[in-house]
Amino acid sequence: MTKIGISAKGRHLIDALRISQNPAHLTSEGMEPALQKALLDFGFLEEHEPTRPPQDLFDTFSGWRSQKGMLIDPTRTGLFDRAISAQVGPGDRVVDVGTGSGILAMCAARAGAESVYALEITQMADWAERLAKCNGLTNMQVVRGDAALFNAGAPVDLVMGEFAGMWLLEEWRHYAAFVQVRDRWLKPGGRVIPSASGLFLSAVDSRKLSYERGWGFFDAPVQGFDFSEVLTSGAYRPTRYILTAEPKDLVCTKEIARFDFLKGNPNDYLFETIVQFNYDVAGMFHGFVGHFTLDLAPGLTLTTGTDGRETCWHQSYFPMPARHVPAGTSVSARLRSFLTTDTQVLKFGITTAGPDEDLDRQTEHVFALE
Ligand SMILES: C[S@@+](CC[C@H](N)C(=O)[O-])C[C@H]1O[C@@H](n2cnc3c(N)ncnc32)[C@H](O)[C@@H]1O
Repeated sequence: MTKIGISAKGRHLIDALRISQNPAHLTSEGMEPALQKALLDFGFLEEHEPTRPPQDLFDTFSGWRSQKGMLIDPTRTGLFDRAISAQVGPGDRVVDVGTGSGILAMCAARAGAESVYALEITQMADWAERLAKCNGLTNMQVVRGDAALFNAGAPVDLVMGEFAGMWLLEEWRHYAAFVQVRDRWLKPGGRVIPSASGLFLSAVDSRKLSYERGWGFFDAPVQGFDFSEVLTSGAYRPTRYILTAEPKDLVCTKEIARFDFLKGNPNDYLFETIVQFNYDVAGMFHGFVGHFTLDLAPGLTLTTGTDGRETCWHQSYFPMPARHVPAGTSVSARLRSFLTTDTQVLKFGITTAGPDEDLDRQTEHVFALE
C-alpha cells in the first residue's frame, strides 16, 4: 500500500496555519513570499483589491472639522448609539468600518462587547486610540489602514459602519470596504448596522427654491432683459444643492431604491428606474428633493427627510427646468445612477416628462454626487 508523507508545500501550509493565529502575519507586506504563494495556491488566502479611497477622503475626514460635524448631530450619533446598545452584548466581537473619532466603536465597547476593532484609514486613527484610552476602554483596538485589507483573525458577531453620504450614495467606496469586511469576517447569522436603507425623492413645487438654486433665475427677466439664452446655451447648469427643505414645498414622495446592507453590495447603488410623481392638485414642478433612511435596529429607523429631526445630511435639491403639472396628472421620471468610466465619479441622471410627453424624447440632466 502507498504511504503518504507531508510535502514541502504541506509543511509551508502547516507553518502558515500556526502563524495565522497572529493577524499581523497575514498582511501581504508582512508575510514571507513563498508562504503567501502556497496559501494562495491552496485557496487559504485570496487576493483582495484595496478599495482605492479617493484623495479627497483624507482631506475630508482627517481633521476635527468634519468629524465634529458628524458628532454634533445628536439624531445621527444618538440613534446609532441606541442601535448599538440594543444589538451588542457581552462576548460579542465587533468591527467598526471607518471609525473616524472612534465614537461608534466606543459605544460598542461601552455596550459590553468582548472586543471591538476600530478601522480607520486617516490619521484620525490616532485620536480614536487616544480617546479610547482616555475613556478606559481596554476592549477596543484601533487598526490603521484601508478596512478592505483588515484581518480579524476569526469570525465576528457584528460589522457596523456609518458610510452614508449626503444623499447616501456618495460614500460608495466606504460601503465597498464595509462589504469586504462583512463578507470575509461576519459569522453566519451575524448582524450589521445599518441593516438597510431606503432612497427617496420628492417632487418640488417652489418658485423660491428654483429662483435661488435652480433654473428660475435666468428663466425670468433680469432688470427687464431676457437672460434665457444663458440657460439654452448650456453655460449655466444648476448642480445638486444641500439644503433644509420646507415640507410645504414637497408634492409627492416616492422610495426610488432600497438597499440591503446584510447581503447587498455597491453595485446595487447603480440602478435605473422609472417613477411617477402624482399631483392631486395643479402645481409646478421645479425638480426633486432627496433624502434617505437607515434601518439601524428592529423598530429603529433614522430618516433624513423633512418628516424627521434635522440631521447633518439635511436634504439634497436636484433642480430641473420648471413645468406646469395639471391636477390629477403626474410627472414621469427616469432616474439612473452610474459611474463615469474614467474618473469613477458617481453620477445621477434625471429625465422628466409631463402627462402628454414622451420620456424618451426629453433631455437628461446629470448631477455629480461627490
Ligand atoms: C462618515 S465618517 C464616520 C466616522 C464615525 N464612524 C462616526 O460615526 O462619527 C467615515 C469614516 O470612515 C473612514 N473610511 C472611509 N473609507 C475607509 C476605508 N476604506 N478604510 C478605513 N476607513 C475608512 C473615513 O476616513 C471616515 O473617518
